Amino acid sequence: MSDFASFGGADEENAEIKRLNAEVEAEPDNFENWEKLIRACEGLEGGLNRNSSPQALATLRDSYDRFLLKFPLLFGYWKKYADLEFNISGPESAEMVYERGCASITNSVDLWTEYCSFKMETTHTPHLVRELFERAASHIGLDFLSHPFWDKYLEYETRQEAHDNIFAILKRVIHIPMHQYARYFERFRQLAHTRPLEELVSPDILAQYRAEVEAEAAQFGMAKPELEIERDIRAKIDASFYTIFQRTQTETNKRWTYEAEIKRPYFHVTELEHHQLVNWRKYLDFEEAEGNYQRIVFLYERCLVTCALYDEFWFRYARWMEAQDNKDEEVRNIYLRAATLFVPISRPGIRLQFAYFEEMCGRVDVARDIHAAVLMKLPDCVEAIVSWANLQRRQSGLDAAIEVYKAQIDSPVVDIYTKAVLVTEWAFLLWKVKGSVDEARTVFEKNVQWYANSRHFWQKWLEFELEQPTNAELEAQHAERVKGVFAEMRAKSRLSPTIKQELGQVYMNYLQQRGGKQAMKEFLLIDRELFGPQSISPITKAKLSKESVGLPELDEATRLKAERRFYNYYELHMDPDPNAQGPAMMMATAARTFTRALRTTARPAFTAAPRVAFRQSGRRFYSSEPAAKQGSSTWLWLAGAAAVGGGAGWYYVNNKSSATPKVFTPTFEDYQAVYNEIANRLDENSDYDDGSYGPVLLRLAWHASGTYDKETGTGGSNGATMRFAPESDHGANAGLKTARDFLEPVKEKFPWITYSDLWILAGVCAIQEMLGPQIPYRPGRQDKDVAACTPDGRLPDAAQAQDHLRAIFYRMGFNDQEIVALAGAHALGRCHTDRSGYSGPWTFSPTVLTNDYYKLLLDEKWQWKKWNGPKQYEDKKTKSLMMLPADMALVQDKKFKEWVQKYAADNDLFFRDFANVIVKLFELGVPFEPENKERWVFKPVNA
Ligand code: HEM
Repeated sequence: MSDFASFGGADEENAEIKRLNAEVEAEPDNFENWEKLIRACEGLEGGLNRNSSPQALATLRDSYDRFLLKFPLLFGYWKKYADLEFNISGPESAEMVYERGCASITNSVDLWTEYCSFKMETTHTPHLVRELFERAASHIGLDFLSHPFWDKYLEYETRQEAHDNIFAILKRVIHIPMHQYARYFERFRQLAHTRPLEELVSPDILAQYRAEVEAEAAQFGMAKPELEIERDIRAKIDASFYTIFQRTQTETNKRWTYEAEIKRPYFHVTELEHHQLVNWRKYLDFEEAEGNYQRIVFLYERCLVTCALYDEFWFRYARWMEAQDNKDEEVRNIYLRAATLFVPISRPGIRLQFAYFEEMCGRVDVARDIHAAVLMKLPDCVEAIVSWANLQRRQSGLDAAIEVYKAQIDSPVVDIYTKAVLVTEWAFLLWKVKGSVDEARTVFEKNVQWYANSRHFWQKWLEFELEQPTNAELEAQHAERVKGVFAEMRAKSRLSPTIKQELGQVYMNYLQQRGGKQAMKEFLLIDRELFGPQSISPITKAKLSKESVGLPELDEATRLKAERRFYNYYELHMDPDPNAQGPAMMMATAARTFTRALRTTARPAFTAAPRVAFRQSGRRFYSSEPAAKQGSSTWLWLAGAAAVGGGAGWYYVNNKSSATPKVFTPTFEDYQAVYNEIANRLDENSDYDDGSYGPVLLRLAWHASGTYDKETGTGGSNGATMRFAPESDHGANAGLKTARDFLEPVKEKFPWITYSDLWILAGVCAIQEMLGPQIPYRPGRQDKDVAACTPDGRLPDAAQAQDHLRAIFYRMGFNDQEIVALAGAHALGRCHTDRSGYSGPWTFSPTVLTNDYYKLLLDEKWQWKKWNGPKQYEDKKTKSLMMLPADMALVQDKKFKEWVQKYAADNDLFFRDFANVIVKLFELGVPFEPENKERWVFKPVNA
């Protein structure tokens, strides 16, 4: 930044600039502050002009330079800057700014057109002006909306009265599919009549047409006068032009659908709608299928102005380019731009990919530098450190890799919890690459004194010991080791009880699966201590006795770091959802959401039996997804300006919520407030069921919607008629009073929301907060009175099987796949003897949505439960899970089972289909008004 003692203005002005400078330094992502700074600089000394003081001018330039380095795609500011330079120092300085601007945003039709227009006015040497027009044409001439540029070019040639040139330009333009193609064709055609034949077509074609015309005349045995011959040749030429026109028209039409959908062709720091991203994807698919290299590159370049902050498109461009022959330089350029200018540093994935590319090209030093650059900005980026160590291992051997870890572990800027992960990576290298189990174990043993509070450290140590091969001879020693690690974890770590439970489950799993005859004694002891009531649990009584004696609890911020999980870019990668609605998060926020979706439970969940834990175990690459560091003025190679983009969008999105509507019409923010209220209360009563009201709220939303009858249009989520008897007394709704009562205080606090909207919102909130997928929501349901209650029998009967399920769900308009997807909700909650008569949960984690319901249906052996209650199944192994006869129908019916298998195998697929079908369910029977067309996605509280 500028370090002038004085900025040139009066004292107050200087103080103001100083303040604004400090603000942009502190918060470089805040676009509004930058704008204020620029405005303040422009206003220095009563408005800058060529007589202003050198200090004031330097301050202005310095601010503009820093601003445009940060937001290089804002073409309007380049233009403004150029105008200012013109006024201050004349055309040459302005031209320099235009040159820099066009180099930063090479495909801006507006900026190039402005530049050409400026050149037209300020240069009297035609060939220099034409040179610029031609440069511009090579960058933007193919743009679908390039007509302002071509118009300017034609205007210039008209001014020069260069008719030949005008015709030559038109002759090029008529081949380009673009918005105003017909207008240019008309003009071209009229002009063509006045141009000599030689100018219209090549000599070969002309000779061919002449020969054809003469041959036609010869058929009738007569020679035509030259004038008539020319007229006939012109008719042929005209016909050939018309063919060109038709071709251009067809090409234009093919692109029209995509072009019409582009709502924001320019760069902005705010988020784009999902729909816009979908359109760009489809447009690129289309252009790639057409196969014209030049056009494809052109479209990517355009797309990457609008979508510059979405790294999916940078990845896609680089991958596409890599698939072309001999394009290493082009690929390098794409990575370089993504990494140095656009993609926020908080998404290191593309930079690492760049490093892999350079390594592949034999430029290992560059690959190393890229890693170093990422780490300068993100010293705690585990993914980058691990990637660097692996690069060293591949290129220079194991010791070099270990050196990387050691250097980072010794570094004063690296966080202790990052170091804990690195230590485990180091140990795993020794074990897996060097084959030295003892050395690896020593690393764990020696380092435990430093990293005993890291969840990851213990997880990896346990994993290491568990995976050591055993035989009858070694089994006892092996068991001692595993037990030792677990005991040490309990004694030394200050992790939360939940994490200790989670690690405990791994140990219990081991005891079950590999323990000897006495193992159940240890199993039950741990079970009691970790999962038993507080009065007997040593975790809660830790301070009283042996466990973690005298160790104070971790504060919240440290605990979050200590228990954090790590993922790499590829783990977070998901195929985009083509049906997603609303604004699409930019990378910085998206990373957080993906992480959330992938997260395994860390909730206090029901269980006395082992749960599937450590789904992430064995993963070797991580991203600790740190936020971009702010406040540094150093522009680092590769890390620099790109730290900006995502954050700025986030700032805007956040700021929206501060808008207070003058007339009270509830907005997204108001509904988000209701959402937050529900989310914050879900776990308020830890004695309720498994610790969350989420499942019963979801059941309420489902039962409110599931009464729909597509034939009569009655029932559905519009009405909330379950408030009234008889519907509240229907057998299927037993127990839902709990959910309705839970929501009553929310309704009191936000009286403007209808019950119908509130119940569904609660369902959405429950799913998202129980770590399910995002569920788009829209309000617009109206409450109805008792007359609208639906008859009994519209909801499914748990005692029945597939025929009944089909009858019930087909009536609502669902198909087989949707029935199976909906049933996945039974991963959540439990049955209650005092409600339905049935008893028990379906899964081991009834407050976290997963596809475990399907997995358990397929993998477990189910038998009839022997009891006095209604007929239900229990799992043979633990006898603690249940299935209803209706659940079992999903694996007894062939068609249903196919979907059960698919969802069991693919949690992402389940989440996608579940989200879609839930949106459908929750909107059954609601006649939304046009103003409720748009669906929103609420920001989870438990993210
Ligand atoms: C396929 C037909 C279905 C049948 C026969 C059925 C039956 C049942 C029964 C008997 C209960 C136990 C109620 C209690 O005792 O508290 C229950 C609970 C539950 N059901 Fe379903 N259900 C079906 C579909 C669905 C669907 C489509 C959803 C949501 C999309 C859903 C969500 C739930 C939830 C979350 C619970 C747990 C409630 C709690 O923990 O309090 N069910 N279901």
